[in-house]
Amino acid sequence: MARYFGTFGGQYVGEVLKPALFELERAMTEILPGSEFRREYSHLLRSYAGRPTPLCRADNLTRELGGAEIYIKLEGLAQTGAHKINNALGQVLLAKLMGKQRVIAETGAGQHGVAVAASAAKLGLECEVFMGSADIERQQPNVFLMKQFGAEVHPVEDGSKTLKDAVNAALKCWIEESSRTFYVLGSALGPYPYPDLVREFQQIIGIETKQQLSDMTGRLPDTVIACCGGGSNAVGMFSAFLDDPVRLIAVEAGGTGDKPGEHAVRMGKDRTMGIIEGYKSYFLQDPDGQVQLTHSISAGLDYAGIGPELAYLGDAGRIEFARATDSDVLEAYSRFASREGLLCALESAHAASEVLKQAPQMEKGSILVMNMSGRGDKDIFITAGRLYPEEWKQYLLREAAK
Ligand SMILES: Cc1ncc(COP(=O)(O)O)c(C=O)c1O
Repeated sequence: MARYFGTFGGQYVGEVLKPALFELERAMTEILPGSEFRREYSHLLRSYAGRPTPLCRADNLTRELGGAEIYIKLEGLAQTGAHKINNALGQVLLAKLMGKQRVIAETGAGQHGVAVAASAAKLGLECEVFMGSADIERQQPNVFLMKQFGAEVHPVEDGSKTLKDAVNAALKCWIEESSRTFYVLGSALGPYPYPDLVREFQQIIGIETKQQLSDMTGRLPDTVIACCGGGSNAVGMFSAFLDDPVRLIAVEAGGTGDKPGEHAVRMGKDRTMGIIEGYKSYFLQDPDGQVQLTHSISAGLDYAGIGPELAYLGDAGRIEFARATDSDVLEAYSRFASREGLLCALESAHAASEVLKQAPQMEKGSILVMNMSGRGDKDIFITAGRLYPEEWKQYLLREAAK
């Protein structure tokens, strides 16, 4: 039976996909709780993915902002540079124990694709990744990494040539061949049981953070902040605090303006429900129900839908939503780098921007935790081009002329 979060979620797929989703649901109940999976997964997380990731006190920003004590969970120190590896490793291991030989995945920014390609290389499975050709254009370094890890990268030329089109292409491929293939979905969305499966693998972020903060301070945080694309790092961080008196803030991409195509704010005042890519949630749509174009400086938040659990918790008032514009994000990126020596991924810099707004308003001695979902090395072609345009252009011209 498909699970819902209130009225969100479900499994809105054609009959052809039902057997593959049923097989996945069965594997979740039979293989996931088993000792073989548990032992191997926790071994891989420790010895390969780099867990536990540190929780770091941001001393300089705490002093400078003058309000809350700021702590940052460094998911960017995990293997392949982001939280995406927690889920990719879990799903690829599940695929292997189900007897599958090939994994396929969609990717937007490329971070999920890189994490899946690395996991498949580590566990000895074939890997194919679907990626919109527009995203390939702006995330070349990640395309190179996926290929190095042995994955085949398929450019998707449909629609806006971005993440939603890559999801559709991966689902189509899975429908055509599911007997030896496992679809590794990258965020807490899609048809049931994927939102549950992804939360299962990402909840380690919140569990570790709660324990680490308790060891360091003996306390719970007052506020926790995470950025929000499809929602996997936010769900993973927030799930440990849902029953506690802790304020939870998810930060969406405010982009360059409020007009359609200028942002990726799904949880604004006039949110619209839809059923797209197999699940019911809020999507940015035009009046005919067509998915709208989105924009964000970060490819990972540039997505028209939001995971069903976050949409539900948002409507229920348990999670607050904020937004950061592209220019807020660049400012936060530079501030965290120069004050704390931390290079946030552009996605995570959305959360960092909200930290800069919230911390000074909070009482001295209160605790603010931010999830730094990834590190910013992958974004250097965007950030260097924006922050030092002339120097960067000259460097690229010199390199191209060699
Ligand atoms: C570093 C990083 N953070 C956040 C996201 C957004 O995804 P999610 O909302 O599923 O955490 C991405 C997506 O690629 C990412 O690479």
